[in-house]
Amino acid sequence: MKPGLVMVGPLMPRVMEGLAPLFEVHRLWEVADKDALLARAAPTTRAIATDGTRGAGRDLMSKLPKLEIIGCQGVGVDAIDLAFARENKIAVTNTPDVLNDDVADLAMALLLAAIRRIPQGDRYVREGKWLKAHMPLTDTLRNRTLGMVGFGRIGKTIARRAAAFDLKVVYHTRTLQADQPYVHYSRLTEMARDVDILMVIVPGGAATRHLINASVLEALGPRGYLINVSRGSVVDEAALIKALGQGKIAGAGLDVFEHEPEVPEALRNADTVVLAPHVGSATHHTRNAMAQLVVDNLKAWLDGKPPLTPVA
Ligand code: NAP
Ligand code: 8YV
Repeated sequence: MKPGLVMVGPLMPRVMEGLAPLFEVHRLWEVADKDALLARAAPTTRAIATDGTRGAGRDLMSKLPKLEIIGCQGVGVDAIDLAFARENKIAVTNTPDVLNDDVADLAMALLLAAIRRIPQGDRYVREGKWLKAHMPLTDTLRNRTLGMVGFGRIGKTIARRAAAFDLKVVYHTRTLQADQPYVHYSRLTEMARDVDILMVIVPGGAATRHLINASVLEALGPRGYLINVSRGSVVDEAALIKALGQGKIAGAGLDVFEHEPEVPEALRNADTVVLAPHVGSATHHTRNAMAQLVVDNLKAWLDGKPPLTPVA
C-alpha cells in the first residue's frame, strides 16, 4: 500500500504527476470538511506537500501523527511551524538555489521600474499623453549605492546583477561574511543612512518582522528607494505607506505584502510604487525546477536516503 501524503494546496502539475505514483495523495484544498479528510488520512499519512505561502501549521501537523516529512515548493519556510517540526522529528525540505536567478531578475526589474518609472511610462503612452508632452524626467541608477538587507543565495545573485549596472553594493546581515569584498553593516539604520536603495531579501518570520520600520525608512531618506522581494512581514507596511505619503522616501518596488493577496489601497494608489503579485519565482522554467526538487526530496526520503535540500 502506498503511504499517504496530504497536499495542502494545488502545486505545479510536475509535483502532482511526480507524487501520484509514489503516494496516495489527499487534496486538502478540494474538500469542505478538512478535519474529516485528515482523520481519514491520518493512519497512513507520512508526508505533506505544500508551498511557501500556505506552509504547514502546528494545527495541521498535529492531526497527522505518522507525519515524517514536509516538502515545500518554495525556499521561504516561514509559514511552516519549524519548532513543532523539530520537536516531532519531522523533516522539512525546501527549494533553494533553483530560483535564485529568476527572483534576482525580478528584483532588478522592480528596481529599474521604480527608478525609471516604467509602468508610469507605459500608462503615459497608452493614455495618449505623449502626444501632448514628453514624460517628466526620472531618477537614475548612476552613482548609486545598493544596500542589501540579507546577503544569502538570492542576495548574492542580485549583487552580481547590480555590478553590471555599476552599482556600489554594501550589505546588512547578522553575520559578517569575511569572504565577501563588500562593506558589511551590522546596524541596518546606519546602512540605510548611507545608501540610495534598500533591497530586502531576508527570510520572513518572527526574527525579521518589521525589520524595515519607520526609523529605517527615515534613515533611507527622501531620495531613497525600497525594494522588497522577501516577505511582506519584513516591512512595516503602515510605516511604509506613511513614509511614501509624506515623501520621506522616494519610492518602492514591492513583490510581497503583509496580507497578500490583499494590498492596501494606499499602495495601489501610490504613483511612486511599483507592485508585483508575488511573482519572483513565477516563470515556467523556475517553477518546474522547484516542483522537480519537491518530488526529488520526497522520493529520496521514500527510498530511505537523506532529503536533498533539508531546511537546517
Ligand atoms: P538565504 O540564502 O538563507 O539568505 C538569507 C540571508 O538573510 C542571509 O544572508 C542571512 O544572513 C540574512 N538574514 C537572516 N535573518 C536576518 C536578520 N534577522 N537580519 C538581517 N539579515 C538576516 O535565503 P535566500 O535563498 O537568499 O532567500 C531569502 C528569502 O527570500 C526566502 O526566505 C524567502 O522568504 C524570500 N523569497 C522570495 C521570493 C519571491 O517570490 N518574492 C522567492 C524566493 C525567496 P545572517 O544569517 O548572517 O543574518
Ligand atoms: C513562492 C517564494 O512563490 O520560494 C519562496 O520563498 O516566495 C516563492 O518562490 C512561494 O513559496 C509560494 O509558492
